[in-house]
Amino acid sequence: MKKLTMDSRIRDLYATDTGHDILAKLCMQAGISTKWIDNPVIRNLKLKALQKPLHKVLDPGFFTALLQLINEHTEQRLPEKKDITHTWWKEAVFYQIYPRTFNHGTIQGISEKLDYLKSLGVDAVWLSPVYDSPMDDNGYDIRDYRKIAEQFGTMEDFDALLNGIHAHGMKLIMDLVVNHTSDEHRFFQEAMKDKHSPYHDYYYLVPDKAHTNNWSSFFSGSAWSQYDNGEYGLHLFARKQVDLNWDNPSLRHDVSDMVSWWLDKGVDGFRLDVINYISKDSGLPDGDESIGKLIGYQGIEHYYYGPHLHEYLHELHESAFARHNAFSVGECPGAGMAMASSLTDERRKELDMIFSFDHLETPGHVRFEDYQYDLNFLRDYLIDWQMHYGSACWMSLFYNNHDNPRMVSKIDPSGQYRREICCLLALMQLSLKGTPFIYQGDEMGLGNVPFGGIDELQDIESLNYYREHVGKGEKESQVWQTVLAGTRDHARVPLPWNETEAQYGQKIDPMVTRVYRQWTGLRHRHKCLVYGTFEVLSKKKNRFVYRREDENESWIIDCNLSVHETEPWHVSDAYELVYPETVRGSALGAYGVRAWYQNKGSAIMENKDTEKERK
Ligand code: NOJ
Repeated sequence: MKKLTMDSRIRDLYATDTGHDILAKLCMQAGISTKWIDNPVIRNLKLKALQKPLHKVLDPGFFTALLQLINEHTEQRLPEKKDITHTWWKEAVFYQIYPRTFNHGTIQGISEKLDYLKSLGVDAVWLSPVYDSPMDDNGYDIRDYRKIAEQFGTMEDFDALLNGIHAHGMKLIMDLVVNHTSDEHRFFQEAMKDKHSPYHDYYYLVPDKAHTNNWSSFFSGSAWSQYDNGEYGLHLFARKQVDLNWDNPSLRHDVSDMVSWWLDKGVDGFRLDVINYISKDSGLPDGDESIGKLIGYQGIEHYYYGPHLHEYLHELHESAFARHNAFSVGECPGAGMAMASSLTDERRKELDMIFSFDHLETPGHVRFEDYQYDLNFLRDYLIDWQMHYGSACWMSLFYNNHDNPRMVSKIDPSGQYRREICCLLALMQLSLKGTPFIYQGDEMGLGNVPFGGIDELQDIESLNYYREHVGKGEKESQVWQTVLAGTRDHARVPLPWNETEAQYGQKIDPMVTRVYRQWTGLRHRHKCLVYGTFEVLSKKKNRFVYRREDENESWIIDCNLSVHETEPWHVSDAYELVYPETVRGSALGAYGVRAWYQNKGSAIMENKDTEKERK
């Protein structure tokens, strides 16, 4: 592909992965449609024509960084594929377990709940890290990849869990944290002991501060710290999470060996932690300051889509995943749809799916901010991905994980409509195209926790954030409100299985659990909900009505995205109501949903299914 320069035009930029995603994000943040890019005048503008009008927001370094990023990726987009390939992981409902707080904080505790998971309709479990770790970042700082952390149990407990999961007809995917290791990992310890050790080059170690750069850590402060041997090392996260140098072939070989070791044991795949960060621009150049200000972290443009990302992922796929036909889902912060499709197009053999996070905050807002989330934005995001991600790729559907406050509380901080919103979110998640990932507690209707003060928090990110901002002289009460809005601890408190475990008044809402059960069941029995076409019937303000359809059946899902009652969608008599089980009054209430089903008369699908569900 021809290299882009400042003489290139907007249309050339938009035709590249990175250019497409960045322009789409800028439009989203500015609240304008990407359709303006189709305007011939805009399409033909040269990049240098943008420099002047934008100079107040973006310095010239922005354009240099942008062009470098784009020119690093020369892969051609593959032509659109006609049919969707059918596989188990597209049909599966995943459930994420955060082991510290799922059940007694142990692996045995997880084994005790396998019947529950099965009855919820879970097909595959994603287990957050259970490896040996000093737990600086709750296990995302691994000391030994082949050992289980004592607090969670033993390798025998793990084997029993894996067998139990398989005996229940479910699958298990582990968390693969290989952007960094703990500084207590043997590799780093060896690197500290001897600068000539082969492990020294497994990390980004430089002799002194003068050799570091201006990148920031996601957990506050600089991404560089001084370690025991006097050298400085790069850590995009906490000081004890030192970044691995993936340009070193022996490191890549060791990672692949370790992955194969777990796959040989029988695990079915991995969720790959911040996997798009593994390839960094060579020489680790300084980050552009205007990009840093825009995004809040400096240096990102040099690693969120690094020059060898595709190559390293393909290599790992071929050397480990492919031999076991194992599943992979990559956590990819910052990835937009175009980058995502390059990473997950099945013909490229890199990743099966990714988690993109663009839907977790409404444009103009960040996680550490007290604001109300607008469901109209979620609808538009979902429509965009449902319609444009293509048949060679498959999206993940989720609202929560261990890194975010509960979405339901962002939508309705009062908690008044918690049940309605949880059911609405569940219905969309289980009736759209993509693989649903339920986060522990979603099915219980859990919301945020009314923490009383910083002493009640445990998460390193929140504690560092608080310290840094108070340290800068900001008012403590204001910093606390911000931390309270964004802390990951909301999703990390123990599940309220019973009264004694119920902290901060959190309780299970059995109605929400029932809805999850009903819809996982429907999804399993009606492949139309998995592979059927998607069509928007209405996207008026506060409304989302869509149809899923195949040759056998048709579903209409009618969602009210606001507190205001509204007229339900008019559905023909050929459809029967599946949800809710009973309808009171004719209006669609606050955050209400109606789901309609039509059997087109195929012999394979029987009406019985829906009838059974309604009972
Ligand atoms: C993403 C994980 O989900 C998060 O919990 C962790 O803190 C960072 N990666 C660093 O591993």
